[in-house]
Amino acid sequence: MKQVGIIGARGFVGAELIRALQGHSEFELGYASSRALAGQLLRRAVPGSSSSLQFERLTHEDIAERDADIVVLALPNGLAADYEAVLPDSTVVIDLSADYRFDDTWYYGLPELTRASAAGQRRISNPGCYATAMQLALHPIKDALDGAPACFGLSGYSGAGTKKTRYNNSSTLDKNVIPYKTIGHIHEREVSRQLSKPIHFTPHVTSFFRGILMTVNARLTSPLTLDELQTRYTDAYSGEALIEMTEDVPMVNTAVGNSGATLGGFAVSDDGLRCVVHCTLDNLLKGAATQALQNLNLACGLNEHEGIRLG
Ligand SMILES: NC(=O)c1ccc[n+]([C@@H]2O[C@H](COP(=O)([O-])OP(=O)(O)OC[C@H]3O[C@@H](n4cnc5c(N)ncnc54)[C@H](OP(=O)(O)O)[C@@H]3O)[C@@H](O)[C@H]2O)c1
Repeated sequence: MKQVGIIGARGFVGAELIRALQGHSEFELGYASSRALAGQLLRRAVPGSSSSLQFERLTHEDIAERDADIVVLALPNGLAADYEAVLPDSTVVIDLSADYRFDDTWYYGLPELTRASAAGQRRISNPGCYATAMQLALHPIKDALDGAPACFGLSGYSGAGTKKTRYNNSSTLDKNVIPYKTIGHIHEREVSRQLSKPIHFTPHVTSFFRGILMTVNARLTSPLTLDELQTRYTDAYSGEALIEMTEDVPMVNTAVGNSGATLGGFAVSDDGLRCVVHCTLDNLLKGAATQALQNLNLACGLNEHEGIRLG
């Protein structure tokens, strides 16, 4: 069994990973670092966990000494470098933050689009949750885009993490939808970089806990029929265990707890020069923990979907 250490294990993403590792045949949780929950049993503090490990408050030096095969950094932005610096090149390090998404020396792992170069990677940057939804929706029409597509994103408030802000405050969000960072959100830059095309992204947060709805509205350089549009998606994703396609608009409430993403509600304007596509996913699963597990499986030469609930 490969030993996995999680830093930032108390957070929403860390907790998902703790649960996900329980069902894995080749990976085993070696430690879970948290300052706030140090000394508490995982099985008491993390719903769904049966682990008898305790959370530990580990310093950078402790982490270097613990010598895990895999280290997961599930920390807020800006903290990964000091942890990465104490780990040997042979350790598989996966960073859930945005810290290495713009660094060509790290592998950017969105498996459905990048898995060809995933095997053997030791420094992996996991994509953003919204950025995953946008890329899955845009990839099949990338060559046909006329200008920057408009990407309207709506997320549950777990996307903002556990640190209290107005974007995860239940009274601010009650019966409400709040737009934020409507120009220059970091996921806008991330997707533009990955696609080598500009995109426009307007995120919104609302009162449900988890789930993302992404509506992509794109102008096209030459007309497409609805059939031609749908065929592009079928060609891109048929056989993908974690991508489902529906004719209807996918519902964000059915994305909750689902390991994969759903694309659907395809529409084309009368002149065929504009199309709309929707993507739903669970920000904590395909938007974070499930994708991290796919990346780690691939990096370690395992079945990509080991430990992931399919269907
Ligand atoms: N939430 C999502 O939907 C989502 C999706 C994709 C990617 N991500 C990314 O994944 C990362 C984790 O997200 P999250 O939602 O799980 O965040 P979170 O719930 O806010 O958890 C952050 C974790 O980091 C630890 N932490 C905070 N400040 C720290 C510090 N200065 N030093 C050491 N540990 C510190 C916290 O534990 P202690 O304070 O107890 O140490 C906690 O375990 C973020 O970079 C986020 O952008 C999140």
